[in-house]
Amino acid sequence: MTDPSLKTGQTPSLSFYEDMHPPAADFRSDILAGLSKPQKALPPKYYYDEEGSRLFDAITEQPEYYVTGTELELLRAIGPELAALAGEGAVVLEPGAGSSVKIRTLLDALERPAAFVGMDISGDHVRAACEELAADYPELEIGALCHDFTQKLDVDALPLSENAHAGRRVVFFPGSTIGNFELIDALGLLKTLRSWLREGDALLIGTDMRKASETLEAAYDDKAGVTAAFNLNLIARINRELDGDIDADGLQYRAFWNPYRSRVEMYLMAVRDMHFTVAGERFVIRKHETIHMENSHKFTLDTFHDLAAKAGLKSRKAWVSGREPFSMHWLEPAGEAC
Ligand code: TRP
Repeated sequence: MTDPSLKTGQTPSLSFYEDMHPPAADFRSDILAGLSKPQKALPPKYYYDEEGSRLFDAITEQPEYYVTGTELELLRAIGPELAALAGEGAVVLEPGAGSSVKIRTLLDALERPAAFVGMDISGDHVRAACEELAADYPELEIGALCHDFTQKLDVDALPLSENAHAGRRVVFFPGSTIGNFELIDALGLLKTLRSWLREGDALLIGTDMRKASETLEAAYDDKAGVTAAFNLNLIARINRELDGDIDADGLQYRAFWNPYRSRVEMYLMAVRDMHFTVAGERFVIRKHETIHMENSHKFTLDTFHDLAAKAGLKSRKAWVSGREPFSMHWLEPAGEAC
């Protein structure tokens, strides 16, 4: 780890910035591999270029997309209970960046939190987000980490004050992001997050719940077409950055609820046979063939608690929103992960 004092000149408002050098993603080979699969699939992590991030923010404001608003409302409602569970002087760690209204809602609810550590795979992004936060929370020790949350992290070694290290750790993972992973990977991620916790620390995690298929399918295929545009933006990015010639007009966005796997599945479906080239390689997609874009798993309290238990986490408390069912969980380390 670098000496934090070396960095203070560059980021006066942050307590520290560390670059943990997450392994570089290889856009070209990931996309070519995805298009070569029998079931074509594109990795969702590449959605978020500048336009993709803008479109994602717009998704969260669509009337059908209940997830963001419901979670925020729930977070506000349970603030006093979270403050009681966390106690004074907690340290909040957030994998994913720290600029959003959600982290502010949590920090505002807690009793004099000692520190906040934001982490993101994009160093520039997390640094800017945490600097913004630091400007509004001058009392708080704030650090930013360029880090991939699927990689190892030694939280004890972070350059936080002794006081902050002594506080209860609360790892905050909102947005039902856990639902975007295949279950086996969700389990792996929960194990990783658990490894950051000592006895008495907690993982505060938001998970969306099963509900009527009409509600789910509308949420992931809004009338204004923003989610469709979000998916098609990845095609535009491939065409632009990998010298592709995929005709986006020949692809239709589809989202459907798969009750057998308890998830919304998102696809781009070809409306006719198309031949195309990406990075010099030739592909064909047949009429009605699909490109699998993403999943959003939905849980019940029990199915999520069972998954958490496999990761060595037990539920201390769970809250369900009174609006569309969405849950927040306060999980604590218990026994060993299996
Ligand atoms: N995790 C959220 C969800 O599953 C947000 C999200 C991730 C999302 N990827 C998406 C929303 C694609 C719509 C489309 O709802």
